[in-house]
Amino acid sequence: MYIIKKIKILHQKIILLKKTNKKIGFVPTMGNLHNGHIKLILLSKKYADIIIVSIFINPMQFDNLLDLKNYPQTFKKDCVILQKQNVDIVFFPDINEIYPNGIKNQTFVVVPKLSKILEGRSRPGHFKGVTTIISKLFNFIQPDFAFFGEKDYQQLLIIKTLVKELNYTIKIISLPIIRLKNGLALSSRNNNLNTKEKKIAPYLYKIMKKTCEKIIKEDSDIRKKIIHSSKILLIKKGFSVDIFNIYNAQTLEPPSQKIKEVIFLASAWLGKTRLIDNKKIFLIY
Ligand code: PAF
Repeated sequence: MYIIKKIKILHQKIILLKKTNKKIGFVPTMGNLHNGHIKLILLSKKYADIIIVSIFINPMQFDNLLDLKNYPQTFKKDCVILQKQNVDIVFFPDINEIYPNGIKNQTFVVVPKLSKILEGRSRPGHFKGVTTIISKLFNFIQPDFAFFGEKDYQQLLIIKTLVKELNYTIKIISLPIIRLKNGLALSSRNNNLNTKEKKIAPYLYKIMKKTCEKIIKEDSDIRKKIIHSSKILLIKKGFSVDIFNIYNAQTLEPPSQKIKEVIFLASAWLGKTRLIDNKKIFLIY
């Protein structure tokens, strides 16, 4: 497994790989790897011959400095995991390599509409940071396939839009949410939960799932009431709820009467940790 820190070296390696006609699969990460990342790597092997994983805690996508400071850095542990999975290349650049002129002066990439709503409204600048780093990584690595988890549903839609509208020839492959037995969606942020919060956290999924089951056959007024009661329940459990509702699964706008395929998005703070989750449902009218 090669660990590459410099764009120039990565570029030379990519040129050689492209000459062999081997398919390149790319898994972007911010490190602190968990089972969800391993599943992404396993999935990538079904599509590609060469697997490249990037580890870069991208400061441009953090709207909160404390959040960035607290983000776990576990490079050595991550490398053991990646080596075990027979990953070919780990790209682990320094911040100066990616943003040599600083973040403030960095040219950026934005997917305008989708980046402003929901998570984007709660975390201003977050998706601008994601789309800028992903564009850079796509340019360095030129993968045939790139792999993303469905837990970050809005991020996934934004990246698919970026690929389409900037005409990248990369295929985006997504992996369904990986959960613990208690239902909690796997996330690097779960490590920030204390013992008490770890017991409460699974309720985000449990309550969302129950809510989905209850609203499927109801009209919009009853739906609103059910969702409202579920929010109160989450607050009683200790969550500070930010997003908890259904949206058009493609546009993330409030669903119109005709739309049947919707996504339930949940986003809530538990202490200092922001947890997100989602579930696709088909409404029956
Ligand atoms: O989902 C993440 O871990 C990050 O947003 C990503 C896609 C690696 C970009 O920094």
